[in-house]
Amino acid sequence: MTALLQASGITVSFGSVQALAGVDLDVRAGQLVGLIGPNGAGKTTFIDAITGFVPARGRVMFDGRDISAAPPHVRSRLGLARTWQTIELFDDLTVHENLAVAATRPTVGSSLGELVLGRRQRAEQHADDAVALLELAEFAGRMPSELPQGKRKLVGVARALAGRSKLILLDEPASGLNTAESLDLGQRLRRVADEGVAMLLVDHDMGLVLNICDEVYVIDFGHLLAHGPPGDVRRNPAVLAAYLGGPADAAQQLDGETAASSAERAGEAQ
Ligand SMILES: Nc1ncnc2c1ncn2[C@@H]1O[C@H](COP(=O)(O)OP(=O)(O)O)[C@@H](O)[C@H]1O
Ligand SMILES: [Mg+2]
Repeated sequence: MTALLQASGITVSFGSVQALAGVDLDVRAGQLVGLIGPNGAGKTTFIDAITGFVPARGRVMFDGRDISAAPPHVRSRLGLARTWQTIELFDDLTVHENLAVAATRPTVGSSLGELVLGRRQRAEQHADDAVALLELAEFAGRMPSELPQGKRKLVGVARALAGRSKLILLDEPASGLNTAESLDLGQRLRRVADEGVAMLLVDHDMGLVLNICDEVYVIDFGHLLAHGPPGDVRRNPAVLAAYLGGPADAAQQLDGETAASSAERAGEAQ
């Protein structure tokens, strides 16, 4: 099957810093794909390159089109959405209004049917659908500032959903969340993917990424280190070495297991 997103040879330089060096990454329709890597690895830059916010070399194919040279608003109109590391909601609009505004954005294919049904009515419907999918009903009438951090993050995801995106690129949605909130976010993202919306989940919470993603890419210093199912990536020696400097530490962090069980396993291996 052809990938929904096919990024090849993505290369970005900031002056003498090469933030990305020829990264290849595919996301198929309805897939939840993870992108992990240490701080400064180039994860945010990858999202910026795919969405058109930084100039990049290489090729970006999305939904059968070459969008390598398209400006951000055109990519967004084609169904490529992103969330930001910091939250970007309109503070003077309710949660539902924030979603409806996102849903009002014209998309490719909005046409006569949309005029007949009424763009506003359609937007309301899309906002309702996003609220339902992410179970945000009790917050829909509230102002974003009244929401706990975890729910605000979810509204950011809901906004991308309300815009009827085909692929959502999520930049560290779990940052600032506690373990329970992160787990909850993961379950909801999984549900969104199962409804057919593809996502690229960028996070440094490796537990989250390895637990919910179908496939995982690992980058370090702008280079692709590994790519495959979470189970393989978890055991990949290059990944273990890049993370936290040592296999033992890294394995522990990747598994989210306790020091005791890690020591136990080390004992068994001898
Ligand atoms: N606008 C910029 N100007 C100069 N260097 C940048 C810029 N954005 C990112 N970088 C550099 O590019 C590298 C990758 O950064 P980034 O993509 O933010 O990493 P990550 O999101 O994985 O933490 C880092 O070395 C960072 O300092
Ligand atoms: Mg980042």
